Amino acid sequence: MRRLLLVAAALMLLAPAPPSPAWTRPEGAQVAAGTTRVLEGEAFPAPSLDMTVLDADMNAPELKTLIQGPTLLFYFSASCPHCQVVAPEVGELAKKLAGQVTVLGVASSRNGLSEIEAFKTDFGADFPMYKDFARRFASENQLSSTPSVLLVRPTAEGFETLDAWRPFSPGTGLLVELRLRAATGQDPWGAFEADRYYGGGACGSCHVQENASWGLSHHSIAYWTLYDREKAEDPACVRCHVTGLGEPTGFVLGDHGSAKTDVTCEACHGPGGPHAGSRTPVSEARGACVSCHDADHSIRFEVDRAVPHIDHWAAVGMEPATFRSAREDLLQGRAGRPLLAFPEGQNLGVKACVSCHKKEHRAWKKGPHVGAMKRLKERNLQEDASCVACHAVAGTKTPATAGDYLVGDGVGCEACHGPGEQHVAAEGGTENVVGLGDSCPECIIEAICTTCHTPEQDPDWNLEAALKGVHK
Ligand code: HEC
Ligand code: HEC
Ligand code: HEC
Ligand code: HEC
Ligand code: HEC
Ligand code: HEC
Ligand code: HEC
Ligand code: HEC
Repeated sequence: MRRLLLVAAALMLLAPAPPSPAWTRPEGAQVAAGTTRVLEGEAFPAPSLDMTVLDADMNAPELKTLIQGPTLLFYFSASCPHCQVVAPEVGELAKKLAGQVTVLGVASSRNGLSEIEAFKTDFGADFPMYKDFARRFASENQLSSTPSVLLVRPTAEGFETLDAWRPFSPGTGLLVELRLRAATGQDPWGAFEADRYYGGGACGSCHVQENASWGLSHHSIAYWTLYDREKAEDPACVRCHVTGLGEPTGFVLGDHGSAKTDVTCEACHGPGGPHAGSRTPVSEARGACVSCHDADHSIRFEVDRAVPHIDHWAAVGMEPATFRSAREDLLQGRAGRPLLAFPEGQNLGVKACVSCHKKEHRAWKKGPHVGAMKRLKERNLQEDASCVACHAVAGTKTPATAGDYLVGDGVGCEACHGPGEQHVAAEGGTENVVGLGDSCPECIIEAICTTCHTPEQDPDWNLEAALKGVHK
């Protein structure tokens, strides 16, 4: 039998929106709780620099003799894809901070000298490079993976580690600069450049609770949603599922490893958030929603109704296991989609719609849904509520038995357009009914169809083909 019941999931979407949750900052939750850690670092052990390394001319200087002031040691392997991704960012940092910090590459012992030279030119890592040929740099500094970065400087007694990033991910350049500025008595906030996108990871290092809460929102999987459907390189889709597409430092089409995939902080708070140059008031974040949640990509979108659903404090105090399972629900498509909830009200049945929608009614009668109850009757299962839940529309707000469904209709109009009570009382209009005419099929329509056309019930589901049948 292929009738695995997913009715609970289906009803979650079709039910009217639950009362909006509040957006409250709980006791003890602090804006940007990780800031001290980012600006002051932690107590790291002193670096181990008492070893020789090899340069391109086969000289083998002692590493510690190369460190005269604040120095960034970029430990990498030329063939590691993550190293290739971040190399340009480290190269840029070397240029921007010339005179303040020396950037040195230390390549894994596995790399050949010519490979290291090629890496420099191919990935814009234009700074001096050495090879950890005796494998001591990595092991003695506990750098188990590439790319990793150590920020060190000489002291009266020897050397100190100001900070370490293991691994070094895209966007971390900002954190290096913030830490360096703080350690050398400069204003850290000057590190933010106007109009520059950094990606959510950099913001999240300080804004840890806001970032964890974001990780429970659909915005955090928006890119995966496209990738999963092989639409991540479709220019018609990407704009609203990433951060800053088309802007100079924003997301670049096809860059799947970027820190600017998904709808991250800067999609709403602007590049650099309020920290970059002019301070963007936080209230302006509300203005960003409708650039993506427009009429074709969101149903009856209202900012006030939607904002509580992106509560930045939702994860505060959550047990790790609860957090993990909420995250898993999101990734598996089991998290609620409150914006898609139908309007409040009672289903009235198809006959309540006919007088004003003759054309659609004719189409529906020729379509695939009118005989849905017949399929059950043929099997004498018309009284089985667990089947009826997908083969008819509920006639009460909390249907329990088959008798609570409008079984005469099969899958009627309101299965897809929501309860008609308010719409009919108002004699039409577009306020209280889900009109799907111009909607983005993947963004909205498919979510409605797949509450019933689940993978178990309809393994061969194909949106484009299925849509042709509904309203010919
Ligand atoms: C070095 C730590 C740090 C980083 C990195 C950081 N922030 Fe902040 N952020 C803070 C602190 C501290 C505050 C609260 C004090 C203040 O308003 O300046 C804050 C405040 C804010 C506010 C609220 C401002 C207000 O008026 O209430 C927003 C929004 C914000 N940050 C967004 C961002 C975004 C977006 C990024 C990434 C581009 C980011 N932050 C990166 C530390 C940081
Ligand atoms: C850059 C585009 C973009 C911006 C700006 C944006 N969103 Fe979204 N939003 C999306 C996308 C895309 C999804 C769906 C992601 C997915 O499920 O893969 C989404 C999903 C959501 C959801 C969950 C979906 C549901 O059906 O309940 C809520 C709630 C939401 N957004 C609220 C907001 C609010 C509030 C704002 C403004 C403060 C906002 N969004 C700004 C693109 C955006
Ligand atoms: C979908 C849009 C959106 C995204 C994504 C987003 N924010 Fe916000 N943020 C908002 C809105 C809207 C507010 C509330 C503004 C208001 O009260 O009107 C807000 C408020 C804040 C505040 C002040 C919170 C408070 O309760 O005082 C901070 C800090 C902040 N955001 C940081 C971040 C950080 C860091 C990220 C990424 C991890 C992020 N935001 C992601 C829209 C967004
Ligand atoms: C009294 C006449 C009347 C009845 C009865 C009626 N409608 Fe409508 N309906 C309208 C009018 C008028 C419009 C608005 C057309 C417009 O403005 O484009 C409309 C629009 C719609 C739309 C499109 C909304 C949009 O955003 O474009 C849908 C879907 C719809 N109705 C479904 C239904 C369903 C389902 C029923 C039965 C429960 C129903 N209607 C009953 C008159 C009616
Ligand atoms: C989660 C929603 C859902 C539930 C629950 C459900 N169905 Fe269906 N059913 C569908 C969908 C969607 C189709 C059309 C998909 C297709 O034909 O591939 C369908 C098609 C059918 C068909 C016609 C196609 C075929 O396989 O012969 C029969 C018969 C059927 N269902 C019987 C049942 C019975 C009996 C039950 C209860 C044990 C049941 N359904 C429960 C959604 C559901
Ligand atoms: C299985 C889902 C489904 C059912 C059942 C259904 N519709 Fe629709 N309806 C859609 C979709 C999807 C669209 C938009 C795309 C299209 O026209 O195919 C639509 C479009 C419409 C529109 C035009 C909206 C606009 O903005 O142009 C109206 C009006 C409408 N339907 C009314 C009805 C009525 C009345 C019934 C019942 C007799 C009904 N629908 C049954 C899915 C459905
Ligand atoms: C104008 C902005 C915009 C564009 C362009 C856009 N989307 Fe979306 N998409 C959204 C928003 C907003 C949502 C959330 C809608 C909601 O839940 O109310 C969304 C939701 C989705 C979802 C639902 C995720 C889920 O959990 O079921 C899918 C799938 C999707 N979009 C795919 C696409 C595809 C494929 C394209 C290109 C054909 C596309 N989007 C183009 C804004 C956009
Ligand atoms: C309330 C549950 C429900 C919803 C919502 C729903 N369907 Fe169906 N659909 C069914 C059932 C049940 C059948 C089987 C009817 C039958 O076999 O007589 C079916 C059959 C079909 C069929 C013919 C069988 C097949 O798989 O080819 C198509 C096409 C179809 N639906 C498209 C859609 C589309 C497109 C949407 C969204 C716009 C949608 N349906 C929404 C329950 C639903």
